[in-house]
Amino acid sequence: MSSSDVARQGQDKNARPLSLSGHVGFDSLPDQLVNKSTNQGFCFNILCIGETGIGKSTLMDTLFNTNFENFESSHFEPKVKLRAQTYDLQESNVRLKLTIVNTVGFGDQMNKQESYQHVVDYIDTQFESYLQEELKIKRSLHNYHDSRIHACLYFIAPSGHSLKSLDLVTMKKLDSKVNIIPVIAKADTISKSELHKFKIKIMSELVSNGVQIYQFPVDDETVSKINTAMNGHLPFAVVGSTEEVKIGNKMVKARQYPWGVVQVENENHCDFVKLREMLICVNMEDLREQTHTRHYELYRRCKLEEMGFKDTNPESKPVSLQETYEAKRQEFLGELQRREEEMRQMFVQRVKEKEMELKEAERDLQGKFEQLKRLHQDEKSKLDDKRRTLEDEINTFNKKKAAAELLQGQSFNTNTNAKKDKDRKNSGFM
Ligand code: GTP
Ligand code: MG
Repeated sequence: MSSSDVARQGQDKNARPLSLSGHVGFDSLPDQLVNKSTNQGFCFNILCIGETGIGKSTLMDTLFNTNFENFESSHFEPKVKLRAQTYDLQESNVRLKLTIVNTVGFGDQMNKQESYQHVVDYIDTQFESYLQEELKIKRSLHNYHDSRIHACLYFIAPSGHSLKSLDLVTMKKLDSKVNIIPVIAKADTISKSELHKFKIKIMSELVSNGVQIYQFPVDDETVSKINTAMNGHLPFAVVGSTEEVKIGNKMVKARQYPWGVVQVENENHCDFVKLREMLICVNMEDLREQTHTRHYELYRRCKLEEMGFKDTNPESKPVSLQETYEAKRQEFLGELQRREEEMRQMFVQRVKEKEMELKEAERDLQGKFEQLKRLHQDEKSKLDDKRRTLEDEINTFNKKKAAAELLQGQSFNTNTNAKKDKDRKNSGFM
């Protein structure tokens, strides 16, 4: 029994049934709801996960009977990217804002962990944007472009063997965040008996690895029969094609081969019609609702708990938003004070360290200065000694010079007198 049923029963107990004596008009409420929703329009977001060239774009074109913009991806993307494109579609008077998100380069990298991480991040980012809008004081959710992923088509390669580990890991990482609908792509390339075994293998692998894929709801009796039957056909084996071929006197979507024609909308050839029926005609609203009430709710709860919000305190008493805010504020202020004190202590410690360093450097400098001073003194006294020696030498030299000059003067005089005597003798004066 769902929680809304329980709530309804609880209300029923206290309510007193009364019959009306005439028409009042609230029986038009469902019509009012329909009109309002129709005027507002709907939005639906599909995420296609699958390796490059597995047939994602072709299937989308086939599903919505149109040609969306398609970019062929290379197998050499350095990392997985998610490319979202939004289209405004209209069928009768119902407007649908459809966003198709494609994984580009999924599984092409050596490091496979990167592949799913980008997808997980993308889904979380969309939840976060919605949460931010919800938490705004002035919010406008009625005209907010909701980009949360409502359905994730996971394209499995038609290998006939088993799921790849990347498929299992990715689906496991995503199953609590999005409604996963696994599909076997290019199912025309696998034989009927192999396909049967492959489907069983895939489902058993999903179960044994605890991967929760989206189950078509069976609690609403108007659709429970068809949904129960369809749950037994999962994963759908699909074929996509936008090519039209004449079969009898009708043009049908098909893929032509030298040996025959695969008709996309022929239930004996593939499960395309089952997928379209389940995804678009029967369960689109449930997918939107599950996204909001299950996946988004889980994200929101975890996020708010992470931020410190709680509904009850340890004694299981309700805690108001105001109390949580006050507790958080006190916690924050305490933390701030602790940090401030820590920083102050650190600052004092650093100053002390710096002071010690400076003192050490000063001591070093003083030592060096003393040493230089001593050296200088030594040099000076050596120079003084040398100067004195030089002065002595100069004095001695000068003395010697004066004596030499004296001697030289005396010998000159002697010579001059001797010459005079000789001249006198020669002239007969003697
Ligand atoms: P990227 O966006 O480049 O990653 O490729 P994609 O996954 O969008 O694949 P796309 O739809 O471009 O198809 C790639 C090729 O596969 C095209 O040649 C399609 O004609 C072919 N193809 C698409 N669907 C099917 C299918 O159901 N069966 C077969 N046999 N071929 C298909
Ligand atoms: Mg494509």
